[in-house]
Amino acid sequence: MSDYIASSLAQYNELYKRSVDSPEAFWGSFAREEFVWRTSWDNVLSYDLHKPHIEWFTGGKLNITENCIDRHLAEKAHETAILFEPNNPDEEHLAISYKELSEHVNRTANMLKSIGVNKGDRVCIYMPMIPELAYAVLACARIGAIHSVVFAGFSAQSLADRINDASCAFVLTADGGYRGSKITALKDIVDEALQKCDCVTRVVVNRRTGSKIAMHDGLDVWWHEAIEGQSTVCAPEVMDAEDVLFILYTSGSTGKPKGMVHTCGGYMVYANYTFRSVFQYQPGDVYWCTADIGWITGHSYIVYGPLSAGATTLMFEGIPSYPNADRFWQVVEKHSVNIFYTAPTAIRSLALCDINLVNKCDLTSLKTLGTVGEPINEEAWEWYNDHIGKNNCPIVDTWWQTETGGIMISPLSGITETIPTFATLPLPGIQPVLMDEAGNEIAELEAEGRLCIGHPWPGMARTIYGDHQRFKDTYYSSFPGKYFTGDGAKRDSNGNYRITGRVDDIVIVSGHNLGTAEIENAINQHPLVSESAVVGYPHAIKGNAICAFVNLTVPSKDAEKLTNEIMNLVATIVGPIAKPERIQVCSALPKTRSGKIMRRILRKIAAGERSDFGDISTLLNPECVADIVAQTATM
Ligand code: WTA
Repeated sequence: MSDYIASSLAQYNELYKRSVDSPEAFWGSFAREEFVWRTSWDNVLSYDLHKPHIEWFTGGKLNITENCIDRHLAEKAHETAILFEPNNPDEEHLAISYKELSEHVNRTANMLKSIGVNKGDRVCIYMPMIPELAYAVLACARIGAIHSVVFAGFSAQSLADRINDASCAFVLTADGGYRGSKITALKDIVDEALQKCDCVTRVVVNRRTGSKIAMHDGLDVWWHEAIEGQSTVCAPEVMDAEDVLFILYTSGSTGKPKGMVHTCGGYMVYANYTFRSVFQYQPGDVYWCTADIGWITGHSYIVYGPLSAGATTLMFEGIPSYPNADRFWQVVEKHSVNIFYTAPTAIRSLALCDINLVNKCDLTSLKTLGTVGEPINEEAWEWYNDHIGKNNCPIVDTWWQTETGGIMISPLSGITETIPTFATLPLPGIQPVLMDEAGNEIAELEAEGRLCIGHPWPGMARTIYGDHQRFKDTYYSSFPGKYFTGDGAKRDSNGNYRITGRVDDIVIVSGHNLGTAEIENAINQHPLVSESAVVGYPHAIKGNAICAFVNLTVPSKDAEKLTNEIMNLVATIVGPIAKPERIQVCSALPKTRSGKIMRRILRKIAAGERSDFGDISTLLNPECVADIVAQTATM
């Protein structure tokens, strides 16, 4: 047990106070005591949030894979590191021990070296949820290459944009990916993306589905051929604490996604600390996070957090509804899962299914439940608590972001109080503040405002790859000297936080961040569309859904055809997850006198409001509001 992982409420309070009084002593001691460093640091922290400039453990040297793998080999060589549950329940699962993980990662690392990957090179990973994806991520970290994992649901265009932005010379992919009864043609998508990328010199293709694919001479190599004969020994590259570990893209308010940069030392410390604090993982526990490694949740809480803690982490290839809507509960029973971490959207959709699907499974192994990615409504929280936790498992509602690297505000399982719909209290080390619109910090405890973080923490993103100015503009300009999250929050009289949702142009659909500008850019490419405005509106299952208001150059003769074409355009350019739920053709979009679209009004219309839009007299074209309402009513 670590002195820095709270195991009682009193200790939480004491640690919190200590972390605020002397953050450097707090993080410095934790980092020194809990990890293998090749060289200790000169400074725990140096920063200036106005620039912003952030460094943690400057001068420290380490390799994160030594902390995730090698150091466990003495005592845990034969314990399971990764439990792999395939998409098809009839295919045998795999229990990969720490020793086997070490061998796989080292062979993969040597394979990467053999195709010319060097320290600092960017490697794009576009793979299904198979163990080789975890090996690939860790292999990059082993040799100091920077991984950029792109979720395997993104389109060829999105993949190409991400490959080009980081000028990746290498792509790791598979012949296909299983998703329920379907196969995603990953290699075909890579082939299409590479038509737009000049930087890629090698593509390594893992064989998973056996799908027929094209292999291009001089560019494509089969994984099983490239890894053949590679040694199971690979010395870890000694990295600077502030060397880049990975880039992960997240949506922004302009069309272009932001490549968030995380560094080796701080990220490692924070992923480990938060995993252990929040989930209260105990040796022998089986832990399952249902996210995809293509998102930050998978990076921090399938790979780096659990493995650095020597845990058993379950990796699931499939989807909750395949072959039936009881798959999650079947897997919990099959592997006696103790800690289960999923998204509110999944909970809401599974709550609609026959309750016998839950009740026939033995869920008694469960101790802790978690949620992440979007606000959870009270009804879904209660259902999760009653039917999955049987009123016996704390629910940790974890608030955090791609940018924060790890969980920031959350109950600590069994230690601090849980309150439905509240992420509750900050972890020790995290100093949230609420700001009013004028930019002042709100002193009262009970308040609502924009959520900022007032002091650095080790897991915070250091920059946006290739665009530090945008990093500053997005996160450090609205409230100088503080990190602005883009979320709104309420705080109760006990200091508990409830996240109310985004206050910018990002919409969270089924837990996925979508930039409205990126979707508009895609829609505007349709020849009949003159302009469009995309907004989110509340949706019973997905949390939010997308409604696109489009203005046409000439009236469309076939509304259904137009809708399908726009949907397909968004699916191809951004990805299927970004498809609008509704497309509303309208004769004009409401604009301010300076020509800006008034999305506030469109948000209300999409949410079903038909009057009460506030003062619209300042609009350039106030009459269009009534028209849009009338057109929407006839949908
Ligand atoms: C939202 C996912 C309410 C929030 C880890 C944040 C949440 C965005 C919660 C980040 C939560 C995440 N309650 N909202 N527990 N967790 N969010 O980068 O709006 O994919 O800013 O990181 O998800 O999404 P991202």
